[in-house]
Amino acid sequence: MYVMLRKTKESVLGLLRRPCSGKHLVALIGAAALLIWLVFLVAGDYPTLRYRSEPNVLYLEEVPDDDENGTRGIDGLDKPELKINPKTKLDVDADRENNDADYNWRNLTPAEISRLSVLGRRMFLNENIGAKQDRIFTIHIWNHKKFSGELDERFFKTGSSKKFDPFEDCSVNNCKVTSPDGDIMAADIVLFHMHLIPGPPVNVPRAPGQLWAWLADESPYHVMMVSSDRNLSHFNGFFNWSMTYRMDSSVPTPYGRTVALPKEKYVEAIEDFYKLKTKNVSLMGSNCGGSNGRYKYLAELQKYIEIDVYGGCGPLKCEGHFYTNCDKLDDYKFYLAFENSNCDDYVTEKVWWNALNKSAVPVVMGAPKHNYQKLLPPNSFIHVDDFKGPEHLAQHLQYLLDHPAEYQKYHFWRRRYRVLNEHGFFQSPVYHMCRLCEALNYNDKTDQRADLEHFFDSSEHCYAVKKRD
Ligand SMILES: *[C@@H]1O[C@H](CO)[C@@H](O)[C@H](O)[C@H]1NC(C)=O
Ligand SMILES: *[C@@H]1O[C@H](CO)[C@@H](O)[C@H](O)[C@H]1NC(C)=O
Ligand SMILES: *[C@@H]1O[C@H](CO)[C@@H](O)[C@H](O)[C@H]1NC(C)=O
Ligand SMILES: *[C@@H]1O[C@H](CO)[C@@H](O)[C@H](O)[C@H]1NC(C)=O
Ligand SMILES: *[C@@H]1O[C@H](CO)[C@@H](O)[C@H](O)[C@H]1NC(C)=O
Repeated sequence: MYVMLRKTKESVLGLLRRPCSGKHLVALIGAAALLIWLVFLVAGDYPTLRYRSEPNVLYLEEVPDDDENGTRGIDGLDKPELKINPKTKLDVDADRENNDADYNWRNLTPAEISRLSVLGRRMFLNENIGAKQDRIFTIHIWNHKKFSGELDERFFKTGSSKKFDPFEDCSVNNCKVTSPDGDIMAADIVLFHMHLIPGPPVNVPRAPGQLWAWLADESPYHVMMVSSDRNLSHFNGFFNWSMTYRMDSSVPTPYGRTVALPKEKYVEAIEDFYKLKTKNVSLMGSNCGGSNGRYKYLAELQKYIEIDVYGGCGPLKCEGHFYTNCDKLDDYKFYLAFENSNCDDYVTEKVWWNALNKSAVPVVMGAPKHNYQKLLPPNSFIHVDDFKGPEHLAQHLQYLLDHPAEYQKYHFWRRRYRVLNEHGFFQSPVYHMCRLCEALNYNDKTDQRADLEHFFDSSEHCYAVKKRD
């Protein structure tokens, strides 16, 4: 939009100087159209959103029509107001000017959009908002020394022996992660890994103004595995940011992401994936349990269709689970991406890496279908809830195995979208440190979703197993 305005200004000036050029006549018509459009935009029936502030709370609300104080600042935060209209892009770069249809292709509701952080809007609405700050931020991972093995493999190595620079492929790189012995008091932000925290962080020293963030990559059922106190409310009042796979986290760290391609990157012809894939259905798992009865479902499914099961739960092996890529999965047409929990936005590397990145069609079990539709490319997956039971799912898979053209339809999205892996499992790329650094640059500093209570309560964000007959 900026570019368009600038061009229009130049053209109008040019027209004043040389009034008879045909090129400029076109520009003048363009300028008039833009003016009409702007008037329409102002007068149009668009809800206007603004940030509302309460002590330590910052969220978007609709501005009432009769509010004459439309440009109020954010109390106590000394920041200019950020006005965001959900139906328009704030800052569109020239390439994406013609791609309006792709904005919010996920169909996020205004309420869902209002829950996104600035970083979330960048990641899930492709908005170019927030600005890089002219300073260095220090990130301290709390108690990193104690569980450095686990975190290093994920965040700094991804399956190789050499550490890589986590900011190499990041929109910002003005952050440093302090060493395990680093001075926690000097940090701008301290990151607490909820999987490994022994309890509420009551005796942790805290510098004034220091931000604390909690991180969970697992679902609410599998958080605080070593804590003697798992009462979420006891963790209230410590944290400023949440950092999870959920889109509405202050610092979203999803396992993967779908991005709409800009028009000039559209792919005209895709490969014949039916031909390319020589095997049928696979699944890999290390943990044979799961609150959603996935292995019971699998056992039933296997009565009707042959499935190659890798890992601890089946006869086939792929060594180096979680840290080494399993290329044996590359040959399959379908991958059963059965999550261990049915929770909002909990879509893991099973879908993003083992299925979509390997060009297998994911058969998903987990969150409800409408939730997957906001995350995965259109028509890219098969959801078990669409079938009365394993037998009917098997029939559908068999139908697709016998009808190449129908199978291929599940790959059509590849002409318009791309999936990114961002989690670090199986040697895939990882963006956790990058996202934290981006959040430090772009986000507002406080967040109503910083406490785990409600935000990370399984009774509010997970679903009982769907009754199937
Ligand atoms: C506008 O601001 C003034 C001064 O702060 C305040 O008295 C008034 O209530 C505000 N009006 C609205 C509609 O918020
Ligand atoms: C969690 O702790 C709060 C406050 O101490 C208490 O009221 C609540 O009953 C506890 N919840 C559970 C499930 O124990
Ligand atoms: C961060 O959270 C702590 C604990 O709730 C709070 O005291 C502090 O003011 C918050 N910092 C910012 C910048 O909001
Ligand atoms: C799979 O992931 C790798 C590493 O990020 C990437 O280079 C490749 O393009 C991806 N392939 C697909 C089909 O998404
Ligand atoms: C895979 O599917 C094809 C097409 O239905 C079938 O001919 C083949 O036998 C199947 N392979 C296995 C191992 O079940």
